Amino acid sequence: MPKAVRRTFVLATTPVVLAALLGATAPRSAGSPGVGDPYFPLSGNGGYDVRHYDLTLGYDPGSGHLTGKAVLTARATQRLTRFDLDLSGLKVTGLTVDHVKADHRRDGQELVVTPRRTLHKGQWFRVAVTYSGTPKPVTDPDGSLDGWIPTDDGAFVAGEPQGAMTWFPANSHPTDKASYDFTLTVPQGKTAVANGVLLGERTRDGRTTFRWRQSEPMAAYLATATVGTFRTTRYTTRDGIQVYDAVDPREADKAASVLKQLPSVLEWESKLFGPYPFRAAGSIVDRAPNVGYALETQSRPVYSAAPDLSTLVHESAHQWFGDSVTLTSWKDIWLNEGFAVYTEWLYSEQHGGDSAQKTFDDLYARPASDGLWAFPPGDPGSGANIFGTPVYARGAMTLHALRTAVGDPAFFRILRAWAAAHRYGHATTAQFVRLAERESGKNLDALFHTWLYTKGKPRTP
Ligand code: TRP
Ligand code: ZN
Repeated sequence: MPKAVRRTFVLATTPVVLAALLGATAPRSAGSPGVGDPYFPLSGNGGYDVRHYDLTLGYDPGSGHLTGKAVLTARATQRLTRFDLDLSGLKVTGLTVDHVKADHRRDGQELVVTPRRTLHKGQWFRVAVTYSGTPKPVTDPDGSLDGWIPTDDGAFVAGEPQGAMTWFPANSHPTDKASYDFTLTVPQGKTAVANGVLLGERTRDGRTTFRWRQSEPMAAYLATATVGTFRTTRYTTRDGIQVYDAVDPREADKAASVLKQLPSVLEWESKLFGPYPFRAAGSIVDRAPNVGYALETQSRPVYSAAPDLSTLVHESAHQWFGDSVTLTSWKDIWLNEGFAVYTEWLYSEQHGGDSAQKTFDDLYARPASDGLWAFPPGDPGSGANIFGTPVYARGAMTLHALRTAVGDPAFFRILRAWAAAHRYGHATTAQFVRLAERESGKNLDALFHTWLYTKGKPRTP
């Protein structure tokens, strides 16, 4: 069919298509303030995609003062007369787009940028933001602290789900992954630990600069630049992974026996899930009693206290499920937490502890009134529930129900295929269901419907 004829045909077909075509010829030229995540509507921004962040930060733990320069290399996905970055608190002291000063204003967590010249669709551009101030964490809908969290000797830095914006201007939604370079300067004696490989460390005039590179794509919430008084250890594993550990001396005795198991945990997980996705690994063990959780910061999880082995296994599993294969929407959080918890169950099963079946049975025995059944894991309902027990435990139960239905060979094939299919990318629950059906040759609609989406305790285990 000739092009012109086909277009006429399409135009005559449906008003929806017509609207889409009209929209395509007269696009909105302002980038949207969010990417449309129902739980965090202002997280991320529309209209561009960041390829690389170059972050140069100086932090003084004594005063809590941060100075920053962020250079973002991005590509416009539409014509842009203006666009937003996410930034909460801090003072912007300069902003250029392609080295030309750009107008900007603050509107809550949005930093609204109007470049001197309109960016055309597909255009690569560079935004440089200089900023400073005293970073403050955000309080999440569930009441937990998130972002740049000062400690008694530095800062615990973890950004899930929305804290990245408390320390650098970002397209802060998991759908936009990028590589990162960090240049972090702290007083001599302090250590600043980010993601990826340590490129170098230099002390001058009483200050030490650490340069880190995270070359594989990373979501903003997985970035860290944790600062403290740390004991550090470096080594390379048998598989050639570069490990860097930083441990608060007050946590060192408790942490030692767990941290030394990291290579064997990563090897065990690699056998189950396929090759470890990153060239770097390690652990940051801080003392941050007001945080109370760990985060799977990419390549190098951060712990608010010495972890137990199960927590190390959990955060390590996230390197495949969450960090390499990343959420498209926070609603699908069970794809992260259900998988990480189920990995803990598998670890126990294969290392002389309870079987996954036993763990499942113990949970299933809980009465219908138990919090475990408060909401379905595939539809937590709001950002306040994304770290709730149903997401973690019933999310893991969902995987166990899948394993029971398809058998071990198909189940472990599914886990590996999932990690491989979306390596360094994104995925949704619907894609997982399709992949599980394809790999097992079974219709699994009813199973996933029951375990992920049905309210209350499922009637059959
Ligand atoms: N994703 C983290 C984990 O399971 C946990 C986490 C991050 C968390 N932020 C949180 C838990 C806030 C409770 C509250 O490893
Ligand atoms: Zn987790």
